[in-house]
Amino acid sequence: MSKRKHILIIGAERGLGLGLAQQFFDRGWHVVGTARHGDNVDALTAVGSQDAARLGLAYIDVTQAEHIDELEKSLGERQFDVIFMNAGIFGALHQSVLEATPQEVTQIMMTNAIGPVRIARRLSARLTGPAPTICFMSSYRASVSGNVEGGLELYRASKAALNILARGLYADLKGSGRTVLSIHPGWAKTDMGTLDGTVEAEIDLESSVSGVAAVVERHMGCKDHLFLDYQDQPLAW
Ligand SMILES: NC(=O)c1ccc[n+]([C@@H]2O[C@H](COP(=O)([O-])OP(=O)(O)OC[C@H]3O[C@@H](n4cnc5c(N)ncnc54)[C@H](OP(=O)(O)O)[C@@H]3O)[C@@H](O)[C@H]2O)c1
Repeated sequence: MSKRKHILIIGAERGLGLGLAQQFFDRGWHVVGTARHGDNVDALTAVGSQDAARLGLAYIDVTQAEHIDELEKSLGERQFDVIFMNAGIFGALHQSVLEATPQEVTQIMMTNAIGPVRIARRLSARLTGPAPTICFMSSYRASVSGNVEGGLELYRASKAALNILARGLYADLKGSGRTVLSIHPGWAKTDMGTLDGTVEAEIDLESSVSGVAAVVERHMGCKDHLFLDYQDQPLAW
């Protein structure tokens, strides 16, 4: 039986998810990446061009609970060492609780917090191997004690919600030796990180995803719930 590790990355057809798919593939992992129906998956498919057997594709919109059944079906008997919930949105540009509509709140909370944790809970039985680990793409903006400058209210609230729900999942799974990692990828050059090219990000995509992959490989199986950045620095909750 192959000793290669297996990862499922939710939201992997562009941005950091695509970069992570390439990173883990290059590190010798089997990778299943997800997209939404209708997405262009050419770049994700190209990740597996050297060894197509190590790259799988599945589909899910993280806001749609009924899509989890479809995902489960398409995964068949597959099991994973790591499940990485990467999909996320910045949300309404105004980012203001004063301006937010119920639809905007629902969209960002379902995409960034409820949806990912619901999928993780449904799929956690697929975690196997000596170091079963669930990762969530968090943000330093999720830190309550680190929020000294204010702003970005909707995004911060959604990622803080993701962190607390990740902690609840960890608590519920603790007896089964699961590890949960909440990771800040740095302010990275993607569609989201540059607000679609209108602002400068701090780091390039490669620096971000290579750091995040190293953090996962270092801490997977530690049986803790950690909040770390892509340089392996702990963040304050
Ligand atoms: N870039 C940064 O500086 C930064 C910093 C901190 C945290 N993050 C986090 O890192 C993660 C990836 O961000 P990114 O910068 O790579 O953003 P991005 O380039 O905008 O990519 C976002 C990804 O999430 C997917 N996604 C969005 N809504 C979805 C939904 N409802 N269902 C399924 N997939 C969905 C997108 O798929 P579609 O193509 O189908 O929309 C895409 O694959 C996010 O969770 C983000 O909050 C990013």
